[in-house]
Amino acid sequence: MSLKKSGADYARHEIRQMAGYVPGRQPLPGSKTVKLNTNESPFSPSPAVIQALSQVLANSDLLRRYPDPQSLELRRVAAALVGCSADQVIAGNGSDELLRILLDTFVEEGEQVAFFSPSYSLYPVLTRIRGGSAKILPLFQDGALYQPQLDGIKLFFLTSPNAPLGFSFSNDYIRQMAENLDGILVVDEAYADFALENALPLINELDNLVILRTLSKSYGLASLRVGLGFAGAALINELDKVRDSYNLDRLAQVGARAALADQAYLQKTVALVIQERQRLTSDLQEMGFTVEPSQTNFIFVTPPDGCAADTLYSDLEKAGILVRYFSDPQLSHGLRITIGTRDEMDQLIIVIKELMAS
Ligand SMILES: Cc1ncc(COP(=O)(O)O)c(C=O)c1O
Repeated sequence: MSLKKSGADYARHEIRQMAGYVPGRQPLPGSKTVKLNTNESPFSPSPAVIQALSQVLANSDLLRRYPDPQSLELRRVAAALVGCSADQVIAGNGSDELLRILLDTFVEEGEQVAFFSPSYSLYPVLTRIRGGSAKILPLFQDGALYQPQLDGIKLFFLTSPNAPLGFSFSNDYIRQMAENLDGILVVDEAYADFALENALPLINELDNLVILRTLSKSYGLASLRVGLGFAGAALINELDKVRDSYNLDRLAQVGARAALADQAYLQKTVALVIQERQRLTSDLQEMGFTVEPSQTNFIFVTPPDGCAADTLYSDLEKAGILVRYFSDPQLSHGLRITIGTRDEMDQLIIVIKELMAS
């Protein structure tokens, strides 16, 4: 018998011990599934994006060359939109890459990385890969928002609006947390375009605050993988040293720029999503569901007594409708449903009514 280890055995201890992140299911293109499980936009991106991408593809010489390593034009457009300067913006290959860059920049082996549970389930996975120590905090205590003890925390990931519950933290809460934290507060605002308030204005006030945005949800560009980080210029400069030099490909930079430049389209599609969110909420409430108030493009719903969430999930799946079920005991009583088009929401309601009547 050979004593030589297999290749996999050389993986770091932490990596061998951990389970990888499990993303929501992505059915193959062309499948007839009504896909309401990963909070994508139900709308195509702005026509200006398609036009800009076509122009790149029509010029094969552009594809031969490396893209701008700084994503400068994209950062300029993003900065102008929010009223800051380009050196206060970093662009990432999705906001997921920015989370990883933040951990690599700020967290030494064994240092504490805090986040609420439930929130985005990628945080513990990335923290473990980095070798940080995850501090998992409850969202609520005695019916009120939990006010965590912040001593010893190096990096705090705060999802606002929260996923998967959908509520926003107030700017007062965020300001207070940043002021009391001897470390970096990252507010992951993946869903902020659907919310009434956001924390972007606070970046000029708090130099340990980072705001993350993504074009994967409200802009309908999950496939291009573009995230943006906003903070003070000195902090962004540190993140920039850790970033891969060509982290955004040319199509992503060009497409994202065109998407950001078409704010009228964003506003129109976001308004339609919010309208459907309100309609679905009241339809489900009428059927006895409890619906968490949402500032996002999804709702977290608890079915009425006698209708188990996991059974409803499987029955919907059999009927060709994919929503998200989490087995985490804090969430296993409910389902997260992404807001789709009017037709998709009508279809969902019809199927739920049929299932509940049977
Ligand atoms: C809270 C939160 N942050 C970040 C992301 C990832 O965004 P991106 O597609 O930009 O990597 C998601 C995606 O589901 C999310 O829910």
